[in-house]
Amino acid sequence: MPLFNVYPLYDVTPVKAKGVFVYDENKTEYLDLYGGHAVISIGHGHPKYVKAINKQVEKLGFYSNAVQNPIQVKLANKLEQLSGCKDYELFLCSSGAEANENALKLASFQTEKSRVVAFKNGFHGRTSAAVAATDNKNIIAPINAQQKVTILDLNDIKSVKTELEKGDVCAVIVEFIQGVGGLDQATAAFFEEVDVLCKQNNTRFIADEVQSGYGRSGKFFAFQHYNVTPDIISIAKGMGNGFPIGGILIHPNIKAKYGMLGTTFGGNHLACAAGLSVLNVIEEENLIDNVNAMYLYFISIAKTIPQVKVIKGKGLMLGLEFDFEISELRKKLIYDYHIFTGGASNKKVLRILPPLTIRKIHIDQFFEALVYSLGE
Ligand SMILES: Cc1ncc(COP(=O)(O)O)c(C=O)c1O
Repeated sequence: MPLFNVYPLYDVTPVKAKGVFVYDENKTEYLDLYGGHAVISIGHGHPKYVKAINKQVEKLGFYSNAVQNPIQVKLANKLEQLSGCKDYELFLCSSGAEANENALKLASFQTEKSRVVAFKNGFHGRTSAAVAATDNKNIIAPINAQQKVTILDLNDIKSVKTELEKGDVCAVIVEFIQGVGGLDQATAAFFEEVDVLCKQNNTRFIADEVQSGYGRSGKFFAFQHYNVTPDIISIAKGMGNGFPIGGILIHPNIKAKYGMLGTTFGGNHLACAAGLSVLNVIEEENLIDNVNAMYLYFISIAKTIPQVKVIKGKGLMLGLEFDFEISELRKKLIYDYHIFTGGASNKKVLRILPPLTIRKIHIDQFFEALVYSLGE
């Protein structure tokens, strides 16, 4: 049976990975500055993570959400401790889109409203309400287009005010650093005014931290660079270091009711063991400090490269903007220099999303290859 052909593929076949490196079937080593799309947080095959998953699957890989699961409780407590999000409650699911879908649904349940405000160039996943809040006509099917969504420009606070004051908006959903879009960020004043407007207009403020969360921005959550209090925070990607797990943190102003949300796989024993070991490693290895140190090192070199026109993003969620489209450069980096990087909707932005364990030596390897590639 052929595979449904929805992905343009690079001709590389990884069979093994360790730390910041991926290896193909010929044992060629690739430096992974893409992290499988911002997923690899604590590094490929981290020994503590592998051990935690192995131990758990030997005991109990899965049981449903109808019984007590102490690993969910441990995960929730550790997440509260490391994120500093005191008193939020946790609902677990299995992907980023599912997290946002549940976030939007919860906002709608609670406010009894149904329109969503989202932003140009945003990306929130491919399920029903999440994809409708995503600014890309190519991925919105007619069935999704029935959702009531208003897409606004980042930083256009006047329009946000006008829309929220109409009284029918259940949620504003935002990426504090746009991922797929190309690392754009609104101003602090904009984010903080949106937060206030949400509170004034009975609208829930959803922080989509699927990509920017778990330390990637240099703080546990990217919204923590600002003075805002989201009602719902969606998480996935780095949360499981490759194990499919997602979730939403829910502010105590939203009360749970039996049956309101639910899932078969979300929060299963194996996923929670993976998620818990990720948090333990982030803490034990001070990975957020490493993110901040590597950010400073990365930009200090990026600034010296004349072809780099703008350095975008925060922490290890970075973009280098050139004045030409980067698809050929990306290919050159993969095939000639064996370095994975990412692309964005903004075709001039090269995305850098490495494991949070990256060291200076790997950044040096990247810039050496970049300079050679640009000179060819
Ligand atoms: C900000 C953001 N939200 C949501 C998603 C969707 O996550 P998933 O692919 O796990 O459904 C992504 C994926 O790239 C993302 O970057």
